Amino acid sequence: MKAIVYTEFGSADVLQLKEVGKPAPKDNEVLIRVHATPVSYGDLLARNFKNVSSSEFNMPLPLLPLSRMQFGFSKPKVNILGSEFAGEIEATGKDVRLYKAGDQVFGYLGPRMGAYAAYLCMPEDGLLSIKPASMSYVEAAAVPYGAIIAASLLRKGNIRKGHKVLINGASGGIGSAAVQLARYYGAEVTGVCSTPKLEYVKSLGAEHVIDYTREDFTQNGESYDLIFDILGRSSFSRCKNSLKQNGIYLLASFKMKALFQMLWTKIAGSKKVICALANENADDLFFIHELIEAGKYKSIIDKCFPLEQAAEAHRYVESGQKKGNVVLTLDHYHET
Ligand SMILES: NC(=O)c1ccc[n+]([C@@H]2O[C@H](COP(=O)([O-])OP(=O)(O)OC[C@H]3O[C@@H](n4cnc5c(N)ncnc54)[C@H](OP(=O)(O)O)[C@@H]3O)[C@@H](O)[C@H]2O)c1
Repeated sequence: MKAIVYTEFGSADVLQLKEVGKPAPKDNEVLIRVHATPVSYGDLLARNFKNVSSSEFNMPLPLLPLSRMQFGFSKPKVNILGSEFAGEIEATGKDVRLYKAGDQVFGYLGPRMGAYAAYLCMPEDGLLSIKPASMSYVEAAAVPYGAIIAASLLRKGNIRKGHKVLINGASGGIGSAAVQLARYYGAEVTGVCSTPKLEYVKSLGAEHVIDYTREDFTQNGESYDLIFDILGRSSFSRCKNSLKQNGIYLLASFKMKALFQMLWTKIAGSKKVICALANENADDLFFIHELIEAGKYKSIIDKCFPLEQAAEAHRYVESGQKKGNVVLTLDHYHET
């Protein structure tokens, strides 16, 4: 089968179209014919993991060697990128009960990746769901990562109806999902992003937008129940005055200092720091499926590239221009 393979870490040039063996499903697995898979933050990170410096690594440094064990030290351990996808079930293992051949599905593979390929296998009880009928394969493929992570983290931020919520990094994979979910929960949402993305973030439902290249949100006199920083570009000391009493400073990316602040604010003060790792579970994917079918969650596509042009798609994402999702499509998609 056709796949985009990389055997060296480096620039987008390392992505090569190759013929590789077609996987066969185990007894509890489904074989999925992939129609579409987006280019996400994780794909760019994994592709060049050897060259990620400690300052570029957005997590506590002790986790860096663990991540290197996962992605490889000098050579990539995972050779096919792509952590989310939409496609059609072609075959099922003998113990599979939840799905059948012909089902249209979407799902999330996480760091094991493998979706930049014509076929993939995954357990039926993995992060997999029937694709919303109201979405195309391309739209659905770009949903799982951001939505699953944002849903889990917003719960850890104790989001409530009527809360004033600020999302720093609102135009990215997690942020664009967080804006939509926070609105669904009944929060008043402010999205922070760069100038060209302001309209995009508004179109996701944010009531207010702040351009971080022109305005420092910690200096505008507003205060929030929840400040959710996706990349951890702000700091608790700067954000503290922008939090209401009992406000939460929630970080999806954090260093050791923020972990100590989390411990400290647990015992002292009314404003809390929460450094959170998402609990990825299929229930959130089923929940998002329902929101999509109810017209309460959308997937905005910036550009599609055929799988063969994966390197070009990576360069486009790295240019920082994308407003919405960039998705790779496979031949099967064009056949439907
Ligand atoms: N905690 C967890 O469980 C978990 C799980 C997965 C990932 N993560 C973390 O999440 C991060 C990736 O998130 P993502 O996939 O949403 O990334 P992404 O799609 O690359 O988006 C990053 C966003 O950050 C914005 N940004 C860049 N510089 C900024 C600044 N100075 N101020 C405010 N916003 C800025 C960008 O906005 P513009 O384009 O407008 O500049 C972009 O929209 C990584 O650090 C990863 O480690 C955490």
